Amino acid sequence: MTMAPVNETANETVDEAAGGEARPYASGLPRLLPLVPGVPEDLRAHLARYGRLPYRGGAGLLIASVQEAGLTGRGGAAFPVSRKLALVARARGRKVMVANGAESEPASHKDALLLRAAPNLVLDGLQLAVEAIGASEAYLYLHPGASPELTRALAQRAAAGLDWLGVTITEAPPRFLAGQESALVNRLGGGPAVPTFVPPRVSERGLGGAPTLVQNVETLAHLALIARYGPRWFRALGTAQEPGSMLATVHQADGTSQVMEVEIGAPVSTLLASQSAAQALLIGGYHGTWLPLAQAASLTLDNATLNQRGAAVGAGVIAALPADRCGLVEAARVARYLATESAGQCGPCLNGLPRMAAALAELAGRGHRRQTRADLERWAGPQGVVAGRGACNHPDGTARFVASALTVFAPEISVHARGHCSATNRTPFLPLPYGMPTTEDDWI
Ligand SMILES: Cc1cc2nc3c(=O)[nH]c(=O)nc-3n(C[C@H](O)[C@H](O)[C@H](O)COP(=O)(O)O)c2cc1C
Ligand code: SF4
Repeated sequence: MTMAPVNETANETVDEAAGGEARPYASGLPRLLPLVPGVPEDLRAHLARYGRLPYRGGAGLLIASVQEAGLTGRGGAAFPVSRKLALVARARGRKVMVANGAESEPASHKDALLLRAAPNLVLDGLQLAVEAIGASEAYLYLHPGASPELTRALAQRAAAGLDWLGVTITEAPPRFLAGQESALVNRLGGGPAVPTFVPPRVSERGLGGAPTLVQNVETLAHLALIARYGPRWFRALGTAQEPGSMLATVHQADGTSQVMEVEIGAPVSTLLASQSAAQALLIGGYHGTWLPLAQAASLTLDNATLNQRGAAVGAGVIAALPADRCGLVEAARVARYLATESAGQCGPCLNGLPRMAAALAELAGRGHRRQTRADLERWAGPQGVVAGRGACNHPDGTARFVASALTVFAPEISVHARGHCSATNRTPFLPLPYGMPTTEDDWI
């Protein structure tokens, strides 16, 4: 096995390191996922493929590289990573680093797959971020627990003395909000995984009051590659505004689902196995947006394009609703789930989401009161009763999901108003966790 030498020259740029001592590496796909699909890469395979972790002896170089690379968070909000790194790096005193692998969105599987298939890439990124911000504690926050591949990777790295800092694994409860960063910090602190109002942000005042950097596990895997191969390499894929590759969980209309690594800006149509079997796409998951198939399939997978249609990449969930299902019924099931997932601590969310879910369920039934549709349009709209009124954006995301369902499935609302339904298949399509939460104990 050959290994790329560690570059310890602090004043050398990362790109020089990538072109010089570090192992040159193809900029195409896959970058994150194993070269042999379905075969996880252990530490030996990982080092053979990527070379050693290039610690840089300080914050500046890595942060500058990440800024030049234009890496954005892959946990949903696409926030520039270099800005959070720099903010926490500047803070004084005790600092905390957290890799967020909660993946609390039921339709997303990319983080679980990455942690199984390439755990060392995530752990590399975690260690680099620890070094860059000067953290004295590192956590890996996971749902539903560590995979055997991850456990083995941690043990192999400890035996090889690879890591800067030991990593504490904490389990996330299986709740939709558990991965939200302030909920995560509350859970790490021993409390319930519920969000708190901002400010302060966790990057200013997080775990035990310490500035806390929370990054999605996929984001950290990209960071590990940027540290090795540099910003120019990273930018060889993606758009100028949104560079790189991303993991997407794609639910095909035939009921199968795959995690794919795709170039940001790839045509959405290239992700779909068969367009003829679908009627609409849900883009961005359960806080995302429904779009009619013809419109969605002509778009590209980047926020600059999707935002023009009121949609966003989010955490990379794409679901192609089969032509034989009822979009209203599917949306009503998910809206009910989202309503039950409210942490119940902000009035508009506690009261508004169940009302929206009940109204959507009425529209998805046979015959409804005329006022119900008007009420729901008003509640879910941008000036509605919930948007912008919570400690977190759960109500906003739920309202976006419901509002887009009302638009895309408008013809079906009329069909239901006449006492019919176009579906020929009543099997639920969009995945939801088994069993709805019933007690407050589920938060722990
Ligand atoms: C309701 C809700 C749930 C979230 N769940 C997750 C999650 O499961 N995993 C995750 O990485 N980020 C999740 N986030 C985003 C986090 O709050 C945070 O922005 C993210 O972990 C930061 O990492 P990134 O910048 O690398 O994306 C969630 C946000 C919200 C509002
Ligand atoms: S907005 Fe809703 S989900 Fe978010 S903290 Fe408030 S009650 Fe909980």
